[in-house]
Amino acid sequence: MPAMKDVSLIVTRKLPAGVEKRMSELFQTTLNTTDVPFTRMQMLAAVKKATVLVATVTDTIDAGIIEAAGPNLKLIANFGVGFDHIDIAAAERRGIMVTNTPSVLTNDTADMALALILAVPRRLHEGERLARSGEWKGWAPTQMLGRRIGSKKLGIVGLGRIGQAVARRARAFGLSIHYHNRKPLHPSIEKELEATYYPSVDALLPAVDILSLHCPYTKDTHHLLTAPRIRSMHKHSYIINTSRGPVIDEAALVAALKDRHIAGAGLDVYEKEPIIHPELLTLDNVVLIPHMCSATEEARTEMGEKVLINIMCFFDGHRPPPDRVLAERAA
Ligand code: DGY
Repeated sequence: MPAMKDVSLIVTRKLPAGVEKRMSELFQTTLNTTDVPFTRMQMLAAVKKATVLVATVTDTIDAGIIEAAGPNLKLIANFGVGFDHIDIAAAERRGIMVTNTPSVLTNDTADMALALILAVPRRLHEGERLARSGEWKGWAPTQMLGRRIGSKKLGIVGLGRIGQAVARRARAFGLSIHYHNRKPLHPSIEKELEATYYPSVDALLPAVDILSLHCPYTKDTHHLLTAPRIRSMHKHSYIINTSRGPVIDEAALVAALKDRHIAGAGLDVYEKEPIIHPELLTLDNVVLIPHMCSATEEARTEMGEKVLINIMCFFDGHRPPPDRVLAERAA
């Protein structure tokens, strides 16, 4: 194992200044000052050279990249909680550890999910546009009518760390919690959230008014929301996605939004980021934001600190236990 100061670190994107400064003090650090995501060629060159790759969700680190890694590469320290862009099994085969940064972005992400849950049914985006347009003629009894939030049923797919943080907030707004996980939660959590478990997504969808996705993206959750599943939902229902874009069949979502088979959607993530389905841009019943749920100065700094701790812990001869990503978790 190299001494900490000899560790060669390659960082694929621009990180908060304080984090980059500390990385440069501690390690032989190569920063990405342009902030342009690496091309495949650049990524191949990086994994051949680095001892630690500090990656983000905008990198594709598939089996081909990992197999091409040089013998020095020991750790992929992901700046972010989601790790679907990294082939974890391939990394394990090569003996490369992967870490992520859970927990520090939970509350900020949940705040934004709740913001979308409130914004879409209450037509916040349309009201904002009307106010700015110069077309507003003043208050009217039937103007900008949305749907009440309180007493509605919120369905959550993936009631994990972030899902539970959303549920706690949603309860304060009078929403009841309905969820699907692979397994029911511990009864104490179900009791605290007064959450009702549904053994399948198919059972959950027709039962709820607002659906919020918080599951990781895996081969099992690819296009979890298919056209028939979306169409099994109530016409007055809304879909909120702050997890990963490909969890929804985006073309099917667009079709359902266009013919008002569902009432609206709030999206932070997209199937082919940064490309947004062009028809989504034309629809008035969607709120679109650019993958920004963890975008607070505090979260991004704490994510960077977690990356630093994970690297230091690893090169100090320990396994960063809570943040170590194992293939069994990625399956
Ligand atoms: C994550 O952490 O996975 C986010 O999607 C990017 O911040």
